[in-house]
Amino acid sequence: MALLKILHYPDPRLHTVAEPVAEITNEIRQLAADMAETMYAAPGIGLAATQIDRHIRLLVVDISEEKNQLLTLINPRIVQKEGEIVHEEGCLSVPGIYDNVTRAEHIRVSAMNLAGEVAELDAHGLLAICIQHEIDHLDGKVFVEYLSRLKQTRIKHKLTKQAREAM
Ligand code: NI
Repeated sequence: MALLKILHYPDPRLHTVAEPVAEITNEIRQLAADMAETMYAAPGIGLAATQIDRHIRLLVVDISEEKNQLLTLINPRIVQKEGEIVHEEGCLSVPGIYDNVTRAEHIRVSAMNLAGEVAELDAHGLLAICIQHEIDHLDGKVFVEYLSRLKQTRIKHKLTKQAREAM
């Protein structure tokens, strides 16, 4: 197992659109395990492959308190959306920034698991928010892009400054 380096906004690689996973190989299984370890260590409740600079459609989420409900979604696709929910989001790629985003309250997602089985999953509330946030990453979208231009500019400046100071 290994901890992976997480890209930070405004790194342009976060805007890469990820390619579908063609086959579940040992390398994919290892990557999914390393991503889960990286997410738990951060700590965070979701991580998309895009964030660790691997541009394939793979994400991990676990919103449980006990950190024992890991979901690994491969080639996830939202097939149904309902309702609306506003929630304050954060992101491991945008450290220290939290803001409200409006998303669907309920989603139905089709995805493959690490055994190569495709199944549909119903998600509500925080899990639905988290999955939508992570699928956005696979599409090259970071949650701050839902905010005003002014806020986005401020966030870019703040994180660029932080990165410079950390060097
Ligand atoms: Ni994120």
